[in-house]
Amino acid sequence: MEKKKRGGFLTRNGFVLACVGSAVGVGNLWMFPWRLGQFGGAAFLIPYLLFVYALGTIGLMGEFGLGRYAQRGPVGAFDKVFRERGSGLGRYLGAYPLLTAFSALVIYTIVSGWILHYLAASVTGAFFEAESAAGYFGGLAGTSPSILWALAALAVSAVILYAGVSSGIERASRIMMPVLLGLFAVLVVRSLTLPGALNGVRYLLLPDWSRLAEPLTWAMALGQAFFTVSLAGSGMVVYGSYMSRDMDIPSSALQTVSLDTIAAILASLMIIPATFAFQLDPASGPPLLFITLPEIFRNMPAGQLFSILFFAGVFIAAVSSHISIMEVLIEAVIDQLGRSRQWAVLVICAVILTLCIPFAISMQYFTIFVDVVTVYMVPLAALSAAIVFFWVLGASQARSEVNTGSQRPVGKWWEPVAKYLFVGIAAAIVVLQVLYRIG
Ligand code: ALA
Repeated sequence: MEKKKRGGFLTRNGFVLACVGSAVGVGNLWMFPWRLGQFGGAAFLIPYLLFVYALGTIGLMGEFGLGRYAQRGPVGAFDKVFRERGSGLGRYLGAYPLLTAFSALVIYTIVSGWILHYLAASVTGAFFEAESAAGYFGGLAGTSPSILWALAALAVSAVILYAGVSSGIERASRIMMPVLLGLFAVLVVRSLTLPGALNGVRYLLLPDWSRLAEPLTWAMALGQAFFTVSLAGSGMVVYGSYMSRDMDIPSSALQTVSLDTIAAILASLMIIPATFAFQLDPASGPPLLFITLPEIFRNMPAGQLFSILFFAGVFIAAVSSHISIMEVLIEAVIDQLGRSRQWAVLVICAVILTLCIPFAISMQYFTIFVDVVTVYMVPLAALSAAIVFFWVLGASQARSEVNTGSQRPVGKWWEPVAKYLFVGIAAAIVVLQVLYRIG
């Protein structure tokens, strides 16, 4: 009865695709390629793969397990765990990941709006006619029309979420993820066959081993590993809450990490060789997607077609992450206020759109807000969920939940690793991010 009311994923494949959708986003598109090149090329893959496989999977198992154990998103899950320990504090602490999701949603809505605009502008050819790609982006970001694009992006996600978990999120992910992979594959081939593209491949893959001696390389790999698989005590907890008890948590976590890593490497091979072919700077962040790449499309043969394919792919990556963040709020409204999904979707859209306004019209506020959310709020939210599951509920009970329904259960070794190593490193990320920003 309860399951019916909350909804849930019908198949494990559908669940994994939704998680991959959540994981593959701007972290893969504009952070990973840049970091790979900057921090030692192939050498960076060593700390990155180590962290994303060893720690990303444990973090995901924890978030899926916490959600499924409680059958609730972060607020309800924290509440349940604390109540079992005789404390009513959990509900209030669970408000923190919720607030993080709220803030991340504002950013993702604005960025998704820009992406949708660029997709539309690729179709109409508008940015091909502009004087410069930089000027074109300047005419959108930080201006009032970007509010309307944010609204349009919000509407796309709202339509998916309005339909529910299996008919909305799961069905959309089953369509979007294969399309995304197909688009990436076409674009990788196009990028690698551009004259001069091999310099970009060299930049990406030639290992600079000396970088491994620098603590910053390891700190960057660590932060990237957590961010890219969406560890934030929010979206993955909610998706986990929609898993049935016969679904395999450890292998779902492993598949999510592997597919996200493939997407990151494909994104790098798609973007960096093209920037080298046109002798442009592959720096990270909005300029890469909205200025550098449009500049390339403006100058390459059949650029309009590739621009449409590229921004369609980026929009899919953005929407599939956007819905996972928005679902955190929707679940909380349904669970905590007893409202219908449809009511929750409409009210949340109205609130988010209102909150987007100041950040959509001021790039200065937007940039500060992005820093606060991604550098400080998200890692702390991931840490909070890990502490609640591995410490407050306890590593032994956490392992038993993670192993329920698993074909290959994790052994006893997992408990100290989750409790001390994972939580210790998650805490270190919070500190390192702060120090890195201050330093
Ligand atoms: N994991 C998402 C990304 O990489 C948030 O953008």
